[in-house]
Amino acid sequence: MTSNRLGDWGFMRRIIVMNTKGGCGKTTIATNVASYYASQGYRTALFDYDAQRSSTHWLNLRTEESPEIYGVTAFRRETPGVTRSWQVRVPPETERIVIDTPASMDRHDLMERVRGVDTILIPVLPSPIDTYAAADFIRDLLLVGKLRSDQTRVGIIPNRIRSHTLAFQALKRFLNSLNIPVVAQLQDSQLYVQAADRGMGIHELPEHRARRHRRTWHDLYQWVETGGPAPAR
Ligand SMILES: Nc1ncnc2c1ncn2[C@@H]1O[C@H](COP(=O)(O)OP(=O)(O)OP(=O)(O)O)[C@@H](O)[C@H]1O
Ligand SMILES: [Mg+2]
Repeated sequence: MTSNRLGDWGFMRRIIVMNTKGGCGKTTIATNVASYYASQGYRTALFDYDAQRSSTHWLNLRTEESPEIYGVTAFRRETPGVTRSWQVRVPPETERIVIDTPASMDRHDLMERVRGVDTILIPVLPSPIDTYAAADFIRDLLLVGKLRSDQTRVGIIPNRIRSHTLAFQALKRFLNSLNIPVVAQLQDSQLYVQAADRGMGIHELPEHRARRHRRTWHDLYQWVETGGPAPAR
């Protein structure tokens, strides 16, 4: 067991990645978070609510040597009125549940998905179209009452950023106007694509390759695990 784990054994934490805008990085973040926890020795499950099954495909690419992640293909509609709890769908000692969601979700789906989660991560791409879409999605989250809940923490993750671009500056202005913390900022990098092609997260790549990305991921895990303030921007 590695010694740099955050948090404790025996405590189940549910982290959902969502934004109804397609292609903003939900699967990339969900798979990287799951691979991080698994590689740190947490018993980890990855729920895939997307009929495209991108997370499930990623899981199928993992090798025997990869730290184990328990996959739950969850996109099939549950029987109306019967919502099975997280616990019955994963092995009993599961400590971290990471949930990947599809772009297409109506308000009912949204409400079902966020029930019982501890952390909501919202990836946003730095473009005007994505910024508007994120604003709509955040308004929907507000309507289902999840932004003001004591039990659920919501964090935004600008994704595929190129620091000095106008689009990123515009996204930063928009995010500053919201009362939601920015909990990580992910660079646009082929490393994510290369890792995904091998069923890996970037934490599982050799240290020297992922070095420049580690800081922001560390900030994210620190925020998720300790409930501390969001990293300074
Ligand atoms: N930080 C990044 N750097 C480079 N490429 C990225 C990054 N994040 C995501 N991508 C790429 O962008 C594409 C879309 O990402 P991803 O599949 O994670 O989005 P998504 O929100 O899950 O999409 P969908 O709404 O279709 O489920 C993928 O090809 C992915 O490899
Ligand atoms: Mg996806």
